[in-house]
Amino acid sequence: MAFEFVRYDGAIASLEVDLLVLGVAQGEGFASGAAADVDAAFGGGLKALAAEESFEGKEGQSLLVHTFSRISAKRVLFLGLGKTDPQSGRLLGALAGRRARDLDVRTLAVAGSTLSGSAGLGVTLGFYRYDQWKTEGVKAKKLERIYLVGLDAPSVEHVAVAEGVALARDLVNGPPVSITPEKLASTAVELASAHGLECTIFDKAALEAKGMALLLAVSAGSDREPRLIHLTWRPAGATDATPAIALVGKGLTFDAGGLNLKPAGSIEDMKMDMAGGAAVLGAMRAIAAVKPNIIVHGIVPSSENLLGASAYKLGDVFKSYLGKTVEIMNTDAEGRLILADALAYANEQKPREIVDLATLTGAICVALGNDRAGIFGNDDGTIAAVEAAGAAAGELYWKMPLDHSLWKQMKSDVADMKNVGKRWGGAITGALFLNQFIGKTPWVHLDIAGPAWAEANDGHVSKGGTGFGVMTLVEYVKRASDRLTAG
Ligand code: BES
Ligand code: MN
Ligand code: ZN
Repeated sequence: MAFEFVRYDGAIASLEVDLLVLGVAQGEGFASGAAADVDAAFGGGLKALAAEESFEGKEGQSLLVHTFSRISAKRVLFLGLGKTDPQSGRLLGALAGRRARDLDVRTLAVAGSTLSGSAGLGVTLGFYRYDQWKTEGVKAKKLERIYLVGLDAPSVEHVAVAEGVALARDLVNGPPVSITPEKLASTAVELASAHGLECTIFDKAALEAKGMALLLAVSAGSDREPRLIHLTWRPAGATDATPAIALVGKGLTFDAGGLNLKPAGSIEDMKMDMAGGAAVLGAMRAIAAVKPNIIVHGIVPSSENLLGASAYKLGDVFKSYLGKTVEIMNTDAEGRLILADALAYANEQKPREIVDLATLTGAICVALGNDRAGIFGNDDGTIAAVEAAGAAAGELYWKMPLDHSLWKQMKSDVADMKNVGKRWGGAITGALFLNQFIGKTPWVHLDIAGPAWAEANDGHVSKGGTGFGVMTLVEYVKRASDRLTAG
C-alpha cells in the first residue's frame, strides 16, 4: 500500500492535515466527541451551519467546510453515517477514502465517536479506483498518511484483506484480453511465491491427462487454453490429521455464451465471470497473512467460453472428471461444467467442508437483486457458518432452497444428466447440478452473479468489480480454523 496509517490520540484542533473527516451518526449532533471539539474552535458556528443546511447525520449527507486556520486541518468534512451498526467504522473510512481520492489530498484524518469495524480497512476500500489503462486525466495518488483519531490502525490482517479485495477487483476489472486463464494462473504462482503458499497449475495437457473433460469442453471454442489453479495454505507442522477446507471459484475469463451466443446487452460485462475465482485468489492472499491452523485449498478452474470452430455443441456428451456423463443442452450454462470438474478435484483433497463462489446464474439476480448473493448447500451447519461469516464481514446473503424436486428437469435421455433445466428456478437447478459432483462432503454454493459487479460506488463497494466474497471467505476460514481445531 502506498500510504501509512497512524493512530492519533492528541487534540483534534492541532492535527495538521489537508482533510479532517468527522463521522456523525444520525441524531448524534455536535454535543460531544470530535465534532464538539471542532465546533468549539468555531465558537458554535458549525453547529449552526449544520442546522441551517439540515445536516442531521443521515447516511449520504455531507458538509465540507474550509477552516480558515481556526484549527490546524485545512478542511473539515462532516459525513452522515445514518444509524450506526457493526460496520460503521468501515463505512466512514470508505467514504473518507473516496473523498480523499477525489479531493486529491496528501494527508487525511478520520474521526468518529463509538465506531466499530475497521476504519483503516474502509479507507483502503474507498480509495480504490481502477485506472491502470488510463493514459489521460489520471492524477498521481497523493495520499501519504492517514491519521485515525482514537481509532486503531488496521492490523496486519486487515491490510492483507484490503490487498486481497483490491487484487480481486483488479482481476475482475481487467480487460479479458489481459486477464486470461494463463494470467490467472501466473497471478496464483506469484501470490504463492510472495506469500508462502503452495501452487500447482494444470495446463491443457495436464487436464487431458487427468480427464477433466467438462473444463476442456467449455474451453474448446477458444484459442486460449484452460487452466486449473490449485493454491494451498498449509500451517507450520501440518500433518495428515490437520483439518482441511476447500474454496473453489469460477474463473470464466470471458463468457460469450458459446454457440448459445448471448444477445448484445448481456455480453458487455462478461469479463466479470471470473469474479468467484478472483475472490478465491484474493482470499488466499489474505489467508497467507491470517495464518489459520487448518489447511486451506484455493481452487480455480479457468477458461473462456467462446464459439470457435472447435466449440462444444448442443447434444454433445462428455464424461466428467468424477465419471458422471453430461449432455450439453445450453453452452451458456458453462460455469457449472467447469465447476463440476473442479469440485470433484477439490473433494479428492479430503476437505471437511467445501465453499464455492460463482457468477453462476442470471436467475439469482432476478430473485435477490444485485446487492445480495444466494447461499445454497447440502448441510445446514456449514450454511449457517458461512451465513454468520458473511454477516460479520458485512457482505449480504440470502439462503436459498436446494429443492431436489426440481432435479427432474435435468434428466437426459442419453446421459446421466443435462446441463440445463427449464427457466423457472434456474439458480436452484444450477446449484442442484453442482451438488451432483460433491458427494457427501458438507458444501456451500454462493451464487454471486449479482454483487460481484456494481453499477456505482456505494459505501465500501466500488463501481465495477467489487471483490465480493473475499471478506466473507477470510472470516469463514478464521472461524473454521477455531471450530475444526477445537477440543
Ligand atoms: N455467467 C453467466 C451468469 C451471469 C449472468 C453472471 C448475468 C452475471 C450476470 C452464466 O454462465 C450463464 O450464462 N448462465 C445462464 C444459465 C442458463 C443458460 C441456464 C443464465 O443465467 O442465463
Ligand atoms: Mn454462461
Ligand atoms: Zn458464465
